[in-house]
Amino acid sequence: MNSKPCILVTGGTGFIGSHTAVALLQAGFETVIIDNLSNSYHEVIDRIDTITGTRPAFHRVDMRDDQSLNEIFSLHQFDAVIHFAALKAVSDSVDQPLLYYHNNLVSLLNLINACMQHKTDKLVFSSSCTVYGQPEQLPVTENTPVQKPHSPYGNTKKISEEILRDCSAASLLNVISLRYFNPCGAHDTGLIGEFPIGKPNNLMPVITQTAAGIIPQFEIFGNNYNTPDGSCIRDYIHISDLADAHVKALERLIRKQNDSCFEVFNVGTGTGISVLEMVNAFERLTGIKLKHTISGRRAGDIEQIWADTSKAENVLGWKAKLTLDDMILTAWKWQQQLTQKTVYTK
Ligand code: NAD
Ligand code: WQD
Repeated sequence: MNSKPCILVTGGTGFIGSHTAVALLQAGFETVIIDNLSNSYHEVIDRIDTITGTRPAFHRVDMRDDQSLNEIFSLHQFDAVIHFAALKAVSDSVDQPLLYYHNNLVSLLNLINACMQHKTDKLVFSSSCTVYGQPEQLPVTENTPVQKPHSPYGNTKKISEEILRDCSAASLLNVISLRYFNPCGAHDTGLIGEFPIGKPNNLMPVITQTAAGIIPQFEIFGNNYNTPDGSCIRDYIHISDLADAHVKALERLIRKQNDSCFEVFNVGTGTGISVLEMVNAFERLTGIKLKHTISGRRAGDIEQIWADTSKAENVLGWKAKLTLDDMILTAWKWQQQLTQKTVYTK
């Protein structure tokens, strides 16, 4: 192994991938990014360079193209892979299931194949709390049963975990699957963040775009849930904390500290926040009144979920450090920067 382990980051110009690339470079890993730029921008590489003082290698590759992917593995000797590349819009996946199954699953299969051929046997996978559906007991632990997914997108995560579990059981790979709760916020420099192409669906970009006047007003999807204030509850986690969890997972694999060849960790804060609490916190911190209406429930929404994070804490040595205020303030800083000078181009 090199003195500096070399890590392939797929989907590395995307929201979570770019923050993780920053964390990896700052932790001393050599970092190679691939992305087809279907939901991100090449300028992100410049931003990562500005933040870290190191320019990661970048290759524009569509992972559905196995030949191009193999060429990347021939150019670099990877010690491990972090696999972010996927399509992630839940409602789009309902309209275009084949696109989602093809993109997310073929990319994964091609990646595993390339790993086999080039003797890279360590992989961190981007999974999601969506695999738990609406759990009967809260908080959810990693042993909470996985449920039938509500969307083709969710199903790609469930199936991907099954594929990875089977491949690791056949001694082909060592895998850590990180089940993210609700990532939000942005890098504290304001240089990288979430860049939803088209109308956002996730709460935080909906809020910041409303505050910026891009969205005239937004809907709160339901205030008659069985929760203290009637709105849905989620476990929002700061993107920089989430990025650090990847570094910890990677270090565990590289040091061969994993207890089994397929491990799962919840990555959240362990605290549930309601939609109304989020709105109130944003208004308190920024002084901006958010125009919104209360509408009916959004189809497919679960009522409430938050993570038991004790496994990540005890086994991975990782715990979220940043607060809800940090998530809101960095997301707002990022949004203001975007509104003032949009510099991304395809
Ligand atoms: P993102 O869209 O910002 O990043 C994904 C990146 O993958 C994009 O840059 C996109 O261009 C790239 N990509 C997609 N298909 C590709 C392909 N075939 N070949 C090459 N590149 C491809 O999304 P994100 O929020 O950073 O999510 C990263 C991962 O985390 C995804 O797997 C997503 O499903 C998972 N995840 C995200 C969330 C969330 O709320 N953001 C929650 C749980 C899990
Ligand atoms: C959060 C809360 C909404 C927008 C999604 C995916 C999940 C995972 C994370 C990838 C909910 C409410 C939202 C709005 C609102 N992604 N809301 N008005 O639904 O928990 O999860 O992202 O794996 O798979 O489904 O996140 O940010 O969309 O919603 O009231 O305009 O905000 O009803 O209660 P969600 P979200």
